[in-house]
Amino acid sequence: VDQDVAKTLGELERKLSELERSLAAIGRGEEPGDYAFGAPEAPEPPAASRSPIGRLVDEAVERGQTTHSGIPASAEAGLGAGPSTRAGRAQAARPGDTQPPSTAELLRFRDRLERTARELTHEYDELLGRLSFAAMPTPTGPTISFARGAPSLDIVDVNGLRSAAVRAFESDPAGTTAYGTSVGYPRLRAWIADRHGVEPQHVLVTNGSMQADAFLFEHLVRPEDEVIVERPSYDRTLLSLRQRGARLHAVELEPDGIDTQALARLLRGGAGARPKLAHIIPNFQNPAGYTLSLEKRRALLALAAEHGFVVFEDDPYVALRFSGEPLPSMLSMDPDRVVYASSFSKTVCPGIRVGYLVGPPDLIGAVAQLATNTYISPNMVSQSIVYEFCASGAIDRSIETVRAALAERADTLANALRRELAEAEFVVPEGGYFMWVTLPWGTDVHALHHAAAERGVSFVKGTDFVLEGGENTLRLAYAGVTPKEIDEGVARLAAAFRSLT
Ligand SMILES: Cc1ncc(COP(=O)(O)O)c(C=O)c1O
Repeated sequence: VDQDVAKTLGELERKLSELERSLAAIGRGEEPGDYAFGAPEAPEPPAASRSPIGRLVDEAVERGQTTHSGIPASAEAGLGAGPSTRAGRAQAARPGDTQPPSTAELLRFRDRLERTARELTHEYDELLGRLSFAAMPTPTGPTISFARGAPSLDIVDVNGLRSAAVRAFESDPAGTTAYGTSVGYPRLRAWIADRHGVEPQHVLVTNGSMQADAFLFEHLVRPEDEVIVERPSYDRTLLSLRQRGARLHAVELEPDGIDTQALARLLRGGAGARPKLAHIIPNFQNPAGYTLSLEKRRALLALAAEHGFVVFEDDPYVALRFSGEPLPSMLSMDPDRVVYASSFSKTVCPGIRVGYLVGPPDLIGAVAQLATNTYISPNMVSQSIVYEFCASGAIDRSIETVRAALAERADTLANALRRELAEAEFVVPEGGYFMWVTLPWGTDVHALHHAAAERGVSFVKGTDFVLEGGENTLRLAYAGVTPKEIDEGVARLAAAFRSLT
């Protein structure tokens, strides 16, 4: 049941993001395009039946009876996109209609799409409830999650945030409550610029760094563009790039960062790769926990200069170093070739949804235009609170709290693995949230995931972070679990592993 529900959840999530992109496209006055419909595996229908509006009607409006899975027929049709769906679409399309839709039509369809999105969200939440219900009551007590890349509540400075919120409304009620502009809350923008030693026009503050990534990809990446990614890499980045139709080249990640020699070979010669962008998570990488060495930072920048690609330095964990020496950002080493993103999710809390981009002013200006068209401005209330939190020095105390907790948790996890699961290979991270674990060749991580769920412990399968392979790997996130839970969780994981052999 778990697997079915999880699969449906994944599909619903995909569908929701497609709907959101359609809505954004309509908001920009574009036609929503094919990405409203998913189903890349289905053959293209004949041009005459490809009215996007007709198909939108089909997916967004039709309300059938509830299906066996509890999902409205219309939603399931959109997810499965089998032959009957296609027939339905063809019927709903206005044959031969090649006229662009009127504004009123677009607005009506947007309303319908929004309604569908709300319903899908409801279905999603319901399924999520079923999933956690299925996972919770195990013989060994509540599920211990090594899956979530989020801090546990005990290391979030809730009181500090409450005080920052009070100060935000008191010190700048107008700026805090107004729309603002797409570059972000001016005081926070200036504070971030100062921390990076750049002028504010190099900075754009967004609703979380995922939003910054999405804007950057929207600005730079077109279908068929080549992009270098690390192997493994953050699953949401891979998804976002694939949804844009990018051609991904996954280059092996080593304990000291991306294999720059393999990258050099990939780029070499007339038939070599011609990437537009390389996505790199330099510090305490998600999912591997590895850090890019100084030598490799230099080598990567030299390759970027030689082959003319942009380095996207995705760096939300940089402040969370608990051992080893800090390294310079690639942004500071080559500000014209690097676009940098970071976030307050990992140092303050993820719910605040504040992240940012730093880059050349021209690029930031172009991304700001995209942001204006998307949402006028990001969340000023959040950004004003984060500003107050930062300006008061609470951020430094919060980083210290998180860092100390992570150091203890990483250490506990490494010791527990050595004690309980000697087959596990891993590198103890010098910071951040994650540890990458390799199990003996032939281990089936899907079966392990299932066996672990039965014993009340969860993790993310390594296969989620690579384009192919990874069946004997997994990511353990230790930021959301206490040392006691880590010990218990690893004991359960080891029991699950033993049950497979
Ligand atoms: C590498 C990386 N980039 C971006 C993000 C997104 O962070 P945010 O919460 O700021 O959107 C994450 C979150 O886990 C991440 O690991």
